[in-house]
Amino acid sequence: MALLTGFNKINTAIFISGTGSNLKSLIKFSKLKKSPITIGMIISNNPKSKGLKYAKINKIKKKVFNFNSTISEKKVINELKKDNINLICLAGFMKILSKEFIKNFNGKILNIHPSLLPKYKGLNTHVKAIKNKDKYSGCTVHLVNSKLDSGKIIDQKKVRINKLDTPETLAKKILVQEHKLYPEAIIKLLNL
Ligand code: GRF
Repeated sequence: MALLTGFNKINTAIFISGTGSNLKSLIKFSKLKKSPITIGMIISNNPKSKGLKYAKINKIKKKVFNFNSTISEKKVINELKKDNINLICLAGFMKILSKEFIKNFNGKILNIHPSLLPKYKGLNTHVKAIKNKDKYSGCTVHLVNSKLDSGKIIDQKKVRINKLDTPETLAKKILVQEHKLYPEAIIKLLNL
């Protein structure tokens, strides 16, 4: 894929809104010799994101933007272009990016979603899966296009739903799989 140039690692930005456990796992992955990415920037729409602490711990540049206006998004685009960011990983990022933003990084934005897409786009995926008595749920990494949770699926992991599962226990089980899935999906994307 065009993203992979020579032996240089791909300069990647991670977008977060909350806890940042996927961010933490991606940072760990980026430090492996075999990893194709380096994390150049962490961006949050929420100044209180717990995940922002990983920027300090790992000496990664961090920026907070509210993403509430075209002007704010333009600032993000400029920041990313200035630092030659070539891949964006949305990791628990709770804002919907504009068409204009996506056009600027077409084919270079990934998202992780806690369901087996195309099932259960949007919020409350675990509640929906349990209510529907599904046997399995899971997580998906997909490319971001202008429709919510609808871009090309890169990879998925399945998780069995037990009778005793609540949305909370299911979320925990799926999160463990998300941490494995995101690095694998990045490698897969770059080899497509
Ligand atoms: C994950 O389940 C992700 O799929 C969803 O929000 C959660 C974020 O977790 N969109 P974290 O911030 O990476 O810990």
